[in-house]
Amino acid sequence: MIGRVEEIARPRDFIVRDIEICKTQIVVTRDLDGKINAFHNVCSHRTNKVVLEARGSAPAFACSYHKWVFGLDGSLRGVPDADGFIGLDKSKCGLQKVACETWNGFIFVNLEREPNVTLKEFLGAFGETWDGLYLPFVDNPVIIVADLECNWKAIADGFSEAYHGAAIHPNTIGGVFLTKDNPFGRPHDMQFRGPHHWAVISGNPDYTLPEAFQIERLVSSGGISTTGNSFGGESQNEIDRMLAHPAINGSGANPWINELTGIFPNFHIDLSPGGFWTHQFWPVSPSRTRWESKWYIANATDLRTRFQQEHYVAKLSEIMLEDVGNVERVQQGIESRVKPFMELGDPEALIRHTLFHLDKWINAASAAEALAD
Ligand code: FES
Ligand SMILES: [Fe+2]
Repeated sequence: MIGRVEEIARPRDFIVRDIEICKTQIVVTRDLDGKINAFHNVCSHRTNKVVLEARGSAPAFACSYHKWVFGLDGSLRGVPDADGFIGLDKSKCGLQKVACETWNGFIFVNLEREPNVTLKEFLGAFGETWDGLYLPFVDNPVIIVADLECNWKAIADGFSEAYHGAAIHPNTIGGVFLTKDNPFGRPHDMQFRGPHHWAVISGNPDYTLPEAFQIERLVSSGGISTTGNSFGGESQNEIDRMLAHPAINGSGANPWINELTGIFPNFHIDLSPGGFWTHQFWPVSPSRTRWESKWYIANATDLRTRFQQEHYVAKLSEIMLEDVGNVERVQQGIESRVKPFMELGDPEALIRHTLFHLDKWINAASAAEALAD
């Protein structure tokens, strides 16, 4: 997953994304027909980078080295002193195209030159179940990015289980979902569809904001939010539209607090009564990861909401620091090669599921073979 359709809302808009582990950069554009295109950012002349900005709007792209010009669809439009190139066939010199498709407004690319499966085939029953999601405030994310000295799985695993809640979140969000009957946050339900999956986390019906959370009590008087990003009024209507999706809380958790969906291998969409957020775990090398987390919130239209959001971001940062606090030490343990395996309990079944499918994908001859039962 490489971006959102809102990031290239108008014709001529473009974004550029690094995929470090593949040593490439992808340009995604919206052309004059409104179609989304993706191509490698490598000039067809002598491989310079063509697009140097991270995002913007442009009618075409001129490479800075010798000014070959490419259209929004990547096709070669102009070559200075073209007569100097004997037999140059411009139609064969476009930027290398990358297959791209969208699902729920997320733009996915497939770097295979001839994709073996479509996005619909890849997402399969998971994609059908979660299609048609209304995603509120999708043009207004709070973005957290961190480069961490660990394998991408070390971070992804941490966001695939709630077992750690009692140990690392007791002073922040632990009380929201841990109860006497469920002190270790066992999932209410887990569902598996091909390599993708989701888990339902139930909440603590007796939760109230502790006395010590004085500022949070002050800013949350419109209703206690489990994630902090429920702001009442108009924004609640937006969230209610999202919550109307039939797949949410299919197992009837009461109260329902979180739907943790994982799109294989490195993309999570989390849904909660307060809104939604996403995680992406980008491998940079076997022992380095760029973690990108986006938390979508309403545009603040008054001071109170703005203050609540500032508080929310501060609290969120604290929780995220708790979440990633152990991952580099985990990596050091892995690299020591002391342990030949890890113990994974049933509440960590999403991790087991991803590992099972990773093994399948690594050993399969094609994506279609990896997806086969
Ligand atoms: S390398 Fe791009 S125009 Fe020469
Ligand atoms: Fe956590």
